[in-house]
Amino acid sequence: MDRILTAIKPTGIMHIGNYFGAVKPLFQMSEGNETFFFIADYHALNFIKSAEELKNNSQMLAAAYLACGLDPEKIIFFRQSDVPEVFELNWILSNITPKGLMNRAHAYKAMVEQNIENGLDKDSNVNMGLYNYPILMAADILLYNSKYVPVGLDQKQHCEIARDLAQYFNNRYGETFVLPEPKIEESVAVIPGLDGRKMSKSYNNTIQMFCSEKDLQKTINRIVTDSRLPGEPKNDDCTLAQFYSLFGTKEQTEDYKKRLREGLGWGDAKKELFVVMNEYISPMREKYNYYMSNPQEVEKILQEGSIKARRIARKVLNKVRKKIGVCKLAD
Ligand code: TRP
Repeated sequence: MDRILTAIKPTGIMHIGNYFGAVKPLFQMSEGNETFFFIADYHALNFIKSAEELKNNSQMLAAAYLACGLDPEKIIFFRQSDVPEVFELNWILSNITPKGLMNRAHAYKAMVEQNIENGLDKDSNVNMGLYNYPILMAADILLYNSKYVPVGLDQKQHCEIARDLAQYFNNRYGETFVLPEPKIEESVAVIPGLDGRKMSKSYNNTIQMFCSEKDLQKTINRIVTDSRLPGEPKNDDCTLAQFYSLFGTKEQTEDYKKRLREGLGWGDAKKELFVVMNEYISPMREKYNYYMSNPQEVEKILQEGSIKARRIARKVLNKVRKKIGVCKLAD
């Protein structure tokens, strides 16, 4: 049994690309492992400056994961901001972090390059939250002595920084932290968006996971197809077929593809896609709506999660405090 940990920033509404690309793989990976999963609200603070929005987004995200089937008995599920111990470790790690390492972190580096391109001062619009972002993320990971960190490729560098910092600390103070490893899930299929490109909020081509039936129908109607008429053979690897295969059974999908090749019209193909998608999503949508109208239940689950998380965080932090010459935390 290994300890795995990952987190997600509460920056928007869950779409089906998130579900198949992150939620399902997390559930699979958590089987047989000790899993920590949290809502990284303090990492979102740099992007979201409205209190209302940060709070609502965090609540929506928690409701979404629970609706998708996150079992809080199996996954320690909490909000980053409910474990203040992380900021203590953040500070301690800051003191072993070479500034040059932060200069090379990609989010900061990209900002600097853009500023230079625009003829601005290199640090224009850079705040210390952005600059120190990788240290907080390292603290997130090391605070629980996590071994594996499942993330997308864009977070690989951050995980490597966490590993570097763990190593620096261990070298200076003696074995303390487990050296974490990123787990980049390569087998996860790229989920297409409405226009056939990768589904992404930044392309504005997403299908929201829990939208109403009516909106789901409308969104499916926006999926781009070619101009082939009913009766003309279609490519069975088209965007519609790709979506269908995510929601339908293997047999259903084979049959759907066969009929596309035989000339199934786009209009009918979209109606059929709606039926399988809606069948799959309906029970989750119901749960989502339930949690959204019962926020106190979501809150209770998160609070219980944070109690479990803090118990471990405080143990690790006490070990760190001892190593650096600071007294134990009061119980
Ligand atoms: N930085 C990650 C992202 O942007 C979110 C995150 C914060 C995270 N802390 C983490 C991911 C710890 C894995 C482990 O998506």
